[in-house]
Amino acid sequence: MIVFDDVRKSYAQGRREVHALRGVSLEIESGEFVAVMGRSGSGKSTLLHLAGALDLPSSGRVTVAGATTSELSDAERTLLRRRRLGFVFQFFNLIPTLTVAENVALPRLLDGARPAETRDRAAALLERVGLRDRTDHIPEELSGGEMQRVAIARALMSDPEVLLADEPTGNLDSATGSEIMALIRSVADEPGKTVVMVTHDAAMAKQAGRLVVIRDGLVDEGADAPGIAPPEEPPLPVADEAAGAGAAKP
Ligand SMILES: Nc1ncnc2c1ncn2[C@@H]1O[C@H](COP(=O)(O)OP(=O)(O)O)[C@@H](O)[C@H]1O
Ligand SMILES: [Mg+2]
Repeated sequence: MIVFDDVRKSYAQGRREVHALRGVSLEIESGEFVAVMGRSGSGKSTLLHLAGALDLPSSGRVTVAGATTSELSDAERTLLRRRRLGFVFQFFNLIPTLTVAENVALPRLLDGARPAETRDRAAALLERVGLRDRTDHIPEELSGGEMQRVAIARALMSDPEVLLADEPTGNLDSATGSEIMALIRSVADEPGKTVVMVTHDAAMAKQAGRLVVIRDGLVDEGADAPGIAPPEEPPLPVADEAAGAGAAKP
């Protein structure tokens, strides 16, 4: 369902180049529930953005739901994201001026779905995430956990084959995080749904069927969840900092 073939991704940071992914090859099958762990700055969000066709690799290929993202036009990539992928982010990314129901419905309306159908589906999803009594509120009237429920309902609006979640519980207390985790697991348990979730929390990662550890822009094949640096450990310096500091070049 998701294939990375020797994927590299670099970003310009001023005059420096940061190598966020340095040759990642990875295959995620349809129906898998994969947790991605790794220190801050190791490239997890970059990996998820590339898997979600939000960004393109500097080299190598990313194939999602049969499409190689770098071979699509911008319009085709937008449709791939809207129709086949769902996203959940750490900071929810809701539109502050829209109600809960409108936030959930918006992606389908943008895709030309019929308003009545869209409203019914949004209501059903809000019921599923336990927010039936919040539909007419705006995001700032909600708790963090409620906002993340809205984001999950929104992500499920197009009945996507792939759900991508970037630290979905990273901004929540642990009890609320566990509730969000239960929702994500319920999606992963549906037949044919592929879920990729970045997390710092080893207990949450354990609920996935598979763990992928990213270390310094590469998949660390042998790594195990308990060996992962907890968030309080200082982040690694970026990959090319030594070179940027004037180290002799070969
Ligand atoms: N848009 C960007 N522009 C410049 N540098 C970026 C950008 N996104 C990420 N980076 C850099 O790429 C590296 C990996 O970042 P990221 O994928 O966000 O890591 P993680 O999610 O594991 O914390 C970091 O050094 C980060 O500073
Ligand atoms: Mg990140």
